[in-house]
Amino acid sequence: MRIPENKIEEIRAAANIVDVISEYVQLRKRGKNFLGLCPFHNEKTPSFTVSEDKQIFHCFGCHAGGNVYKFLMDYEKISFIEAVQEIAERTGITIEADEDSSEKQSEQEILYDINTTAAKYFSDNLLIKKDGESAQNYFHNRKIKIQTMRTFGLGYAFPTRDALVNFLKERKIDFNKALSLGLIGSGSDGRLYDKFAGRIIFPIFSPNGRVVAFAGRVFNEKEGTAKYLNSPESSIYTKGRILYGLSHAKDEIRRSDRVILVEGYMDLISLYQGGIKNVVAVSGTALTDEQSTLLSRYTKNVVLLFDADTAGIKASMRSIEILLRRDMEIKIASLPKGEDPDSFINNFGKDKFEEIIKRSVNFIEYQSAYYESLGMFDDVSKTAEAIRDLVKPIALIKDELKRNLLIKSISKKFNLREKLLEAELEKAIQQEGKQITADERSRLRVQTNIEATTPSQISKKASPAVYNLEREIIKLLFEGDKGVIEFIAAHIPPEEFLISVHSKIAEIVYEACTKGDDVIAASLLEKINNDKIKSYVIELTFEKHQTSKKWEEIYPGAAYEVILSKVVRDTIKKFKTSLIEARIAENHRKLSSAETENERLELMRENVELERSKQKLKDELKIEEESL
Ligand code: CTP
Ligand code: MN
Repeated sequence: MRIPENKIEEIRAAANIVDVISEYVQLRKRGKNFLGLCPFHNEKTPSFTVSEDKQIFHCFGCHAGGNVYKFLMDYEKISFIEAVQEIAERTGITIEADEDSSEKQSEQEILYDINTTAAKYFSDNLLIKKDGESAQNYFHNRKIKIQTMRTFGLGYAFPTRDALVNFLKERKIDFNKALSLGLIGSGSDGRLYDKFAGRIIFPIFSPNGRVVAFAGRVFNEKEGTAKYLNSPESSIYTKGRILYGLSHAKDEIRRSDRVILVEGYMDLISLYQGGIKNVVAVSGTALTDEQSTLLSRYTKNVVLLFDADTAGIKASMRSIEILLRRDMEIKIASLPKGEDPDSFINNFGKDKFEEIIKRSVNFIEYQSAYYESLGMFDDVSKTAEAIRDLVKPIALIKDELKRNLLIKSISKKFNLREKLLEAELEKAIQQEGKQITADERSRLRVQTNIEATTPSQISKKASPAVYNLEREIIKLLFEGDKGVIEFIAAHIPPEEFLISVHSKIAEIVYEACTKGDDVIAASLLEKINNDKIKSYVIELTFEKHQTSKKWEEIYPGAAYEVILSKVVRDTIKKFKTSLIEARIAENHRKLSSAETENERLELMRENVELERSKQKLKDELKIEEESL
């Protein structure tokens, strides 16, 4: 699909980058900008910055940056067109398909469409078709209401070998794509067959509610078949980045500022139906760091509610570590033996369930109770080991006060000297610290790489002072002010910049301004084709204005526009003056080595001329103090 340039800009302008990114990253207002933990690299102190004025983001740590489209492309690993479509959907702008666009739908869009078609097919089988009765009965027996089946798009795959294959054939759907999505398989005889045949279907949604995969559960329990069959990973589905139910639960998670983490699909569905809607399911695998990051966008408070069996306990232990690294507050709730959340809510109801959540304990209590149950406190050597294991996760917590409180609680619980525990903690922190420095080092590597790729043309003819002034001027071009750009363009033609990258950038910005395009940074960036120049500009725009800072100090409380116009004049004046002075100095050098009187006269005349233009510049760009 080709979307016209002005449409791309219209869509971009309709969305506020702060709102969009806030759905993924917790942002805090810091001065003019917003600050949060970078989703593109691991960090413990926020260096991810979003500018509302400029509608761009930038990470000072890993140097990711760009406008709202770039954010979605990097975050969701989607194409530019998909990012534009996503923003269009959010802002309610429709993109008219232009003539030559019909055939060029993106690969991923086609996959989403196939999944949507299949999901509808499975759902109709369950809810409409006569042959779906047995599956519907299965759900009835499990106390699932029709409305809930609709809410979660539950479905049924007929047990016939190729019912879905035929359905897809009728719709002329690309079998290769259906194969890659794991909806159908190809037998040893080459015949295609339905992968989920005979199973009840749980569509798996992305956080935005698109069908990315399916899970199928057997309902006529047979020997030797896995209880659940899941779609393989594909270009629209990465298992470790999805949490089942998140698209349904996210609003309630935000509202209640808490999430309950369960293991199974049915656990989530039954809780949701029972009125507990701030739930997501990890679907039987260990929680990943990406899932933990995903959750931390919505809340910092997690209640783990895993089965009381060994697998469930192991999963809890691992999840605790992962969540602690993301700075989450963790509680662990336990159900009576033999119950899982699904059976519990159906047997005992919402109020009893809420009591279970209220009685959840912190992870130290949970873990020590577990070690106790293993008999580890009966024997001295094992006790030491258990205590060490208890202290280890505490080292992952950044907040010293919190760490101390937990150490105190262990000390009290086991009647151990705090000093002893603190020494253990210190060891664990050092161990963890080694890992952090490794992170830091790789971060630095990224940084130096980028620096090596910033304008190599930093030419010898530009002194550091002139180089900095040029950077200041380029920075001013991205302030989003047409008047400023016009003023700079009138005084500095592109070729006058000594650094060729700056000339190129100025040319692009001047042209956009003349054409009457929007000159906000987010839209100017779209016109720069070179990625290196793009990141150079982003870095630059997030640097502090050296001069403006001074101005703000000199004229506290002056309006931003007023300060800006002063800064522009001041910077241009300094830049042009330094160019002139460089030429005067050059002439002075030549004077001392000039051979003929004529040559000398010529140089002197030129210098007089240069001095004069310097003065002229001063008058022309005089800053009228009275206007402040
Ligand atoms: N699971 C899986 N594959 C399996 C077994 C389990 O993917 N072969 C995942 C599913 O996401 C399942 C979760 O692990 O929901 C928990 O498994 P289990 O406790 O065995 O199933 P329940 O969720 O209790 O399912 P049901 O109540 O339908 O038996
Ligand atoms: Mn169950």
